[in-house]
Amino acid sequence: MSHEDLTRHYRVDTGKMLDLVINLPDQIEETWRAMKTFKPPAMKGTAPLIVCGMGGSAIGGMLLRDLIQHDARVPIYLESTYALPAFADRSTPVICVSYSGNTAEVLGCFQNALMRKCPTIVVTSGGALADEADLAGVRVIRVPAGMPPRAALGALFTPLLGLVSKWGIYPVADEEIALAIRKSRKIAEKYSLSGDPVDSRALQLAKRIYGKTVFIYGGDGLLRAAAYRWKCQFNENAKSMAFANTFPELGHNEIMGWDCPERLRGDFFLIVLRDAEDHPRVQRGLEAVFRMVEPLASGSVLIESEGDKGRGGRLARLLSCILLGDFTSVYLAVEYGKDPTPIEKIDRIKEELKMEDA
Ligand code: PA5
Repeated sequence: MSHEDLTRHYRVDTGKMLDLVINLPDQIEETWRAMKTFKPPAMKGTAPLIVCGMGGSAIGGMLLRDLIQHDARVPIYLESTYALPAFADRSTPVICVSYSGNTAEVLGCFQNALMRKCPTIVVTSGGALADEADLAGVRVIRVPAGMPPRAALGALFTPLLGLVSKWGIYPVADEEIALAIRKSRKIAEKYSLSGDPVDSRALQLAKRIYGKTVFIYGGDGLLRAAAYRWKCQFNENAKSMAFANTFPELGHNEIMGWDCPERLRGDFFLIVLRDAEDHPRVQRGLEAVFRMVEPLASGSVLIESEGDKGRGGRLARLLSCILLGDFTSVYLAVEYGKDPTPIEKIDRIKEELKMEDA
């Protein structure tokens, strides 16, 4: 890409979101290394593991669930409200994730966890959550501050992976991480602006999506939360409307929505994410959905996760889809002339609620 193109990009992307996206493999590598010396409290039994978080701090838990759900010896329960579920007690491990450490929902769950004496760990860059955890003697995994939470995905997700591995819920080998990092670095280089723009699938996809409302469909398996991550990144980075859903459930309802009047679906764009190890019926179902919707949508693309088959390649395949979505959302933001970093309406909602609390 030419010097002028790069200047044009960073004139809009003043927060350098693109650099943070490129940095994902490095974040994972550094955090995995840091987790080596972290000693979590012992965990016995088969109580569900509760992971609390909102928005950019919740996605790590969702990705963890998708990655390990079929092999983990305990279920992962995701909490995104102000309180823990009724079953949480002193045998239920709780991980409270909040990048800023000031998110009311997570602080509420943390207080609940203390009251119910749940074995608790906090993942944060600071804020009230770190202070309260320090005060209560709860172990804190501190992540580097100064990023938008959604750009700290590697720093927030990797501790979860480290913890489930240390607890024996889902052992993760160093080689698995190393393979995923290697693969992600190659992909990040491919999608970055360092090469010929024609070769950047993310840049080309952003141009195709421009002006469209995006629907992202994933299989209910490895890529369920990946589809949701795409949606959230389109919302927050590109300030554009996007929706995500999963097959098979969408085959029982949402598929009918594509029969809506043409003037409505005229700007709908379909993205299907597929993984080679999705259930065979899910794979066939997603293909059928794609075939049916393609002539109705104003554009469509079928994306296969990239990487080795089997458990060892699972993380790499998941990250390959995350990276494509993250890059595409940043390029789409620039196409729209929107700085990917500010999230003014989210900040305003938090401020208004805080004022009412006071
Ligand atoms: O992307 C964002 O900034 C948001 O989705 C935040 O992650 C969300 O509001 C929660 O804040 P925090 O991640 O600081 O707990």
